[in-house]
Amino acid sequence: MKKIIALVLAVVLAASCMFVMASCGDSKNNSSSKKEEAKELHMATNAEFPPYEYMEKNKIVGIDPDIAQAICDKLGYKLVIDNMQFDAIIAAVTSGKADFGMAGMTVTDERKEAVDFTDTYATTTQVIIVRDKDSKVASADDLEGSAIGVQLGTTGDIFASDVKDAKIQRFSKGADAVEALSTGKIDAVIIDSEPAKEFVKAKEGLKILDDPFAEEEYAICLKKGSDLTAEFNKALKELKKDGSLEKIVNKYIGD
Ligand code: ARG
Repeated sequence: MKKIIALVLAVVLAASCMFVMASCGDSKNNSSSKKEEAKELHMATNAEFPPYEYMEKNKIVGIDPDIAQAICDKLGYKLVIDNMQFDAIIAAVTSGKADFGMAGMTVTDERKEAVDFTDTYATTTQVIIVRDKDSKVASADDLEGSAIGVQLGTTGDIFASDVKDAKIQRFSKGADAVEALSTGKIDAVIIDSEPAKEFVKAKEGLKILDDPFAEEEYAICLKKGSDLTAEFNKALKELKKDGSLEKIVNKYIGD
């Protein structure tokens, strides 16, 4: 009898020890991960859009990554950038795969139906790039019936789609559209003004038409109803007020 009692006690003791160890281990893990690592925020972008986001060596750099980093620093998050196709960004945000999208993204009514936008942080225009010498397109009116290159899913794509009888070629990168223009495969490219300047600078024989096409504003997109939107707006406001935002833009756009 004594032996049985001793055995039962030993088993109970062993079991409770294991339980205590397991729960101790758990709580230790929890508290240490909370203390040491800030919560990660994933930013969905498309690094084919200089100077807003582009690859330098193996790193994604540009105005948007810098602003996002400044926001995350202010709010105490760790920034992780996920590169993807431009037309995949909104789906990444709505599905929760990414916490926010930032990609020189224009605020449009259609996008507003899918995501929330922060306050805007840049104003820009859509422009038309053509070949310097043999261009039959001298203004937006001449686009009718021409072959227009755009980056898939961008506002340039939407504008081109409204041009009468246009033959639209949709590229996954703006730079590829510009390449097709330069080799005579298409007549014009519609794209945002800052990347247009970069692309034209990098390639001989191209120019940007004088009259801009449309005015647009960039903002960060988040999942509908996200609490982060208010946090982001607060951080953005501070970055605008203390001159940090302007400093970041000036670092990349030497105007
Ligand atoms: N502003 C345009 C739009 O929202 C083009 C943005 C393209 N951005 C990029 N990272 N590729 O449609």
